[in-house]
Amino acid sequence: MLSGIQPTSGSFHLGNYLGALRQWVAMQDDHDAFYCIVDLHAITVEQDPKVLRENTRVSAAQLLGLGIDPDRSALFVQSHVPEHAQLSWVMECMAGFGEAGRMTQFKDKSTRIGTDRISVGLFTYPILQVADILLYQTDRVPVGEDQRQHLELTRDLAQRFNSRYGKTFRLPEAFIPKETAKIFDLQEPTAKMSKSVPAGVIELLEEPKRLAKKIRSAVTDTGREIVFDPANKAGVSNLLAIYSSLTGRTIADLEAAYEGKGYGDLKKDLGEVVTEFVTPFQAKVKSFLDDPAELDKVLHRGADRAREVASVTLARTYEKVGF
Ligand code: ADP
Ligand code: NA
Repeated sequence: MLSGIQPTSGSFHLGNYLGALRQWVAMQDDHDAFYCIVDLHAITVEQDPKVLRENTRVSAAQLLGLGIDPDRSALFVQSHVPEHAQLSWVMECMAGFGEAGRMTQFKDKSTRIGTDRISVGLFTYPILQVADILLYQTDRVPVGEDQRQHLELTRDLAQRFNSRYGKTFRLPEAFIPKETAKIFDLQEPTAKMSKSVPAGVIELLEEPKRLAKKIRSAVTDTGREIVFDPANKAGVSNLLAIYSSLTGRTIADLEAAYEGKGYGDLKKDLGEVVTEFVTPFQAKVKSFLDDPAELDKVLHRGADRAREVASVTLARTYEKVGF
């Protein structure tokens, strides 16, 4: 199993955790997992080198703080494993120009930003993703809806390569892990929580007091009833979903517990729930960041483990194409 996350923000947010990273932690139990901080993908848009380097380390510390166990999983930085870029080139040569141009994520971005202003890397980044996946002979890739097309491309290119040169790559399956929650913005509860909208995002590294305050000022509605009804009560429903996800209490249980109480009570309690979650997490992250040599060691070990597999796949690929 392989999954990656971009190191583009200082802090992961609750949507990242409840929608993805929590499953990363859980899947370590029954998968041989490769977890990659995808700094090569990050530079498809301009990055400040110092900030990128720092964010990569902070991302690693957060993954460890959330429970990624480097003794069980390979936790590594993409640029530390040169095979990603090397296989990517071969796969770029397998892909049709028109085929790559049909990727809807790219079409959306290029329409929004303009083809003159976006990098060629942003155009070819789905093919780097193809390489990320194929290098580890991955069976399962946990993906959200927005990544499905890229996984289809992965299967198409793997199949094309296999039929042209002989079986080389395993065909990966998309896999939607159960119990992923979609978390919405606190200020605009119909839009997904995202780091690009700072006011409504619960960042895991933010000061708990400030998080509690953000939750207190979350947008709700003019009603009074605390019920889960996403269509009509998006704000309250989002708060209940977060509460339920972090505590394991069912929505029905929460609705019953808050019967006759007000939004203020729910928000205050959720502030405490979030505080209890982030406080020990933040302490762990700090301890990983306070010991840079140990963090380096963990990431080197992860890259070594990744390379053990990736170098075999790359060597086979190079041999097949005639290098
Ligand atoms: P952002 O939307 O903040 O830019 P990313 O796109 O980098 O976050 O997402 C990283 C991972 O977190 C992806 O697997 C994505 O599906 C998940 N994710 C991001 N935002 C949310 C959210 N609001 N709810 C659930 N999952 C989310
Ligand atoms: Na995003």
